[in-house]
Amino acid sequence: MIQVNIIFHSVSGHTYRMAEALGEGVRDISGCQGRLLRIPEPAGLEPITMPGLERRHHDFSHIPEAKIENLVDCDGLAIGSPVYWGNMSYATKYFLDSAAKLWALPSEDKSVRAPKLSGKPATVFTGGGSGQVNDPAILGLWTVFGSFGMTIVTVGLGVPEISDPSRVDGGSALGAGTFSRRPGKHPSEVEIAIARAQGRALGEVTRAWTKRV
Ligand SMILES: Cc1cc2nc3c(=O)[nH]c(=O)nc-3n(C[C@H](O)[C@H](O)[C@H](O)COP(=O)(O)O)c2cc1C
Repeated sequence: MIQVNIIFHSVSGHTYRMAEALGEGVRDISGCQGRLLRIPEPAGLEPITMPGLERRHHDFSHIPEAKIENLVDCDGLAIGSPVYWGNMSYATKYFLDSAAKLWALPSEDKSVRAPKLSGKPATVFTGGGSGQVNDPAILGLWTVFGSFGMTIVTVGLGVPEISDPSRVDGGSALGAGTFSRRPGKHPSEVEIAIARAQGRALGEVTRAWTKRV
């Protein structure tokens, strides 16, 4: 099976619901398995949230905790983060900074210093509130992927929900997202559909890439 890890941070559960939808999209691609893993709160820190969103809207305590090795033990990767001041959340940043440890892992090829991330397909999705400055959070995560030499997968304008000029939901051509503080239920059906499409895109690219290695 082709293994895709969907690693997310979430406090009130909206990014978790997006991770679920993205996982469904990955599993739509034959031969692909999507595994959800949650980024733990950094030790000693209280979860940070917004007034009104303290409540855990969707429970995800049953999802196993992500370890930094889970960046390596997969063929494709999705990272989901709540948007905090236009950036990835504190826990997502702490988790990815911990990837420094991967450089100490024993490598099969001693001439290569970096862990096995180079070329691996990777994509980003978000959970925002009002929807302000959500794409920069994706760009910030792409900088990390770029440092690791990963292949960035996007949603793209080919997904009909993205190109619909009348829509007010989260998500862009760069990655799926939800606007949890906007009126109505979130993630909305449209936000879920975009996350599924992103999962399918990641699954397809991962399957093609895996055949080459
Ligand atoms: C410190 C902080 C900063 C935030 N900044 C933004 C922001 O820049 N843009 C936005 O759309 N939402 C922002 N939010 C709202 C969160 O992104 C929103 O609550 C989101 O649903 C959290 O995801 P979760 O439900 O998975 O925990 C912020 C929340 C906090 C606590």
